[in-house]
Amino acid sequence: MIDILEKKIGHLTAEFPPLTEFFSDYGITFNDLHATLGETLEGLAEEHYEDMGIDREKLLENLDGFLQRITLSEIAEAPTVSEITIIGGHDKNGHPEEIELTLLRGSVTSIVGPTGSGKSRLLADIEWMAQNDTPTGRTIRVNGQKPDPELRFSLEYKLVAQLSQNMNFVMDITVAEFVFMHAESRMISAIDTLVADIIAQANLLAGEPFTGQTPVTALSGGQSRALMIADTAFLSSSPVVLIDEIENAGIDRKKALSLLVRKEKIVLMATHDPILALMAERRLIIKNGGIQKIVTTTSREKENLIKLEEIDNKFLALRTRLRSGEMLEEL
Ligand SMILES: Nc1ncnc2c1ncn2[C@@H]1O[C@H](COP(=O)(O)OP(=O)(O)OP(=O)(O)O)[C@@H](O)[C@H]1O
Ligand SMILES: [Mg+2]
Repeated sequence: MIDILEKKIGHLTAEFPPLTEFFSDYGITFNDLHATLGETLEGLAEEHYEDMGIDREKLLENLDGFLQRITLSEIAEAPTVSEITIIGGHDKNGHPEEIELTLLRGSVTSIVGPTGSGKSRLLADIEWMAQNDTPTGRTIRVNGQKPDPELRFSLEYKLVAQLSQNMNFVMDITVAEFVFMHAESRMISAIDTLVADIIAQANLLAGEPFTGQTPVTALSGGQSRALMIADTAFLSSSPVVLIDEIENAGIDRKKALSLLVRKEKIVLMATHDPILALMAERRLIIKNGGIQKIVTTTSREKENLIKLEEIDNKFLALRTRLRSGEMLEEL
């Protein structure tokens, strides 16, 4: 209960679409998707509670019961994923990859290794829930078991949200239509506000602005990634989030990561960026197609993150100057 009060309205309504309706029954509409539920309820005038004939405590009690019902009915269709296990296959030379690695809900793991070493391949193995039927021979278990084949290929209930390295839109629709379509399929009531909010968030990540009217095919690589990141952060209910080289799109990668990382998810990200790599609590070192080593981020490394950020900020400032046409003769 305390937990839910700390959640942002935007996330909450994306995660539990029926909530919007629950609150509208009590005459509560959400204007600020960034406010937490607790802040929103605190902002309600005393008269509002009187009009509803209910006090705050009773409202929270009803909310609790309601949430228990909807989460129970959700579980009937979609199992909660509490862990994913990667069982090793073989590297590019066919040498066995002797590994059995379990990733828990709420964890963030980074994947590092040279270009071409197999980082994207590992993400693809998880996306497709490999069953010794991909080039690596890996097997993926969900909650310790072989995933239900229906779940593996289900379009309705996606186990995995994948933000891939290369993304191309082929549809002839606008940005707003694209986001609207996703929101609609999640049965969210305050769709228009949420769509506008997602587009605004995407613009905060990207460089030159785009609007809801921009055709998706006209978006640049970085703008497309920014849109998909905001869309996934607010609308995806998938328990597993896979991120492939968020840093390459020239977007605000730290902000992007903070949008995507949520404590109920299992997050994996392939990266060449030391800052992102150290933001994860564990990292997998990939070499020649296999997981060569698993490293836990040390507290010393976490401390060094501050120094890395300082270096990074200097570098970003140079990039901004370069982008705006300045000469970099003086550093
Ligand atoms: N264990 C393996 N056995 C056979 N082929 C593999 C294996 N692992 C990766 N590959 C293949 O190697 C190629 C390069 O892998 P991948 O695209 O995953 O590299 P990457 O680490 O993501 O590189 P980049 O940093 O450039 O994105 C792919 O064709 C992939 O299918
Ligand atoms: Mg790759």
